[in-house]
Amino acid sequence: MKAPERIRGARFTGIGYYLPEVVLTNADFERMLDTSDEWIVSRTGIKERRIAKPEQATSDLAIEATNRALADAGITPEDLDIILIATATSDMPFPSTACLVQNRIGASNAAAFDITAACSGFIYGVTIAQALIASGKARRVLVVGVETLSRIMDYEDRATCVLFGDGAGAVVMEACEPGDGVLGTYLKSDGSYADLLFLPGGGSRRPLTEEGLRNREQYVKMKGDGLFKYAVRAMVEAAEAVLREAGLTTADIDFLVPHQANLRIIEGVRSRLHVPPEKAIVNIDYVGNTSSASIPIALGEAKDKGLIKRGDRILMVAFGGGLTWGALLVKY
Ligand SMILES: CC(C)(COP(=O)(O)OP(=O)(O)OC[C@H]1O[C@@H](n2cnc3c(N)ncnc32)[C@H](O)[C@@H]1OP(=O)(O)O)[C@@H](O)C(=O)NCCC(=O)NCCS
Repeated sequence: MKAPERIRGARFTGIGYYLPEVVLTNADFERMLDTSDEWIVSRTGIKERRIAKPEQATSDLAIEATNRALADAGITPEDLDIILIATATSDMPFPSTACLVQNRIGASNAAAFDITAACSGFIYGVTIAQALIASGKARRVLVVGVETLSRIMDYEDRATCVLFGDGAGAVVMEACEPGDGVLGTYLKSDGSYADLLFLPGGGSRRPLTEEGLRNREQYVKMKGDGLFKYAVRAMVEAAEAVLREAGLTTADIDFLVPHQANLRIIEGVRSRLHVPPEKAIVNIDYVGNTSSASIPIALGEAKDKGLIKRGDRILMVAFGGGLTWGALLVKY
């Protein structure tokens, strides 16, 4: 009888990201809304964000990031067992964006599905991928965080639309020796705060009607101050939990890659965790909040710049609508 396979580790073997070419600056918002560059920068740290062209859907952004991650891993689409896409802005309600990507890249051996955990989607996706690899169900998994948030922004709501941008980030995860790759994961949710960040229209509760469109139900609604209070506390809790699970402290961490929601939130998390500024990866000033894409974009940029190197211990932490939050600790 064949001996059962022992539990395996899962590591990142490829990282890729894509930012659309079109730049929306704070000066552009000054022309559209009653706002100022000074207000946006002082409250959020954001100076500009990228916006998909009208002909670019979420799957198009996902494929750009995917091709780069596959090239970085040195594998072909046929090598993938699973394609997992974390997004709140899928091309359409169904089929999944992952199925659309599977077809277009020719990943003929992969099962494909989407998950929704808002800005924590990448952390949730990597956790699922790690479990599939550890159990022996899959050997190579593609995890993509991707959003075209510009399609669900209310560009008359100045407190919300200035925060968000579009983009995609992808990682290839492959089986490895236990103790390498993903060292710990932590996931949490609290649906009692669902009304802090949500999109009311277009689902089964409120199918879109002409009246709904007039009421702008097709756009994101956000209570920014409520989220702000929760975000720092939840992200610190998640980071501490994942470090505890691995028997490590922040002194053992080479880089912190936080979800890029707001520079003041990032700074709050970083300082409470006692991580020095040079170890925190921050790109919110020119990327904005790209929700589930924000961590893999920041990770991919840091790798391309030569900041993050093989063997580094990287702490990733996110928070978002749901509410959802979580953390990952990875030996790269
Ligand atoms: C949205 C956010 C930047 C607002 O910052 P803030 O310092 O809390 O600002 P306030 O909510 O106190 O708003 C202050 C004033 O600025 C105004 N304001 C809001 N957006 C503005 C803008 N873009 N330009 C100018 N003024 C603006 C408000 O209307 C308010 O005016 P009022 O006092 O006359 O009512 C902040 O709450 C935030 O970042 N929250 C977290 C949001 C988030 O990260 N969401 C995603 C989670 S993944």
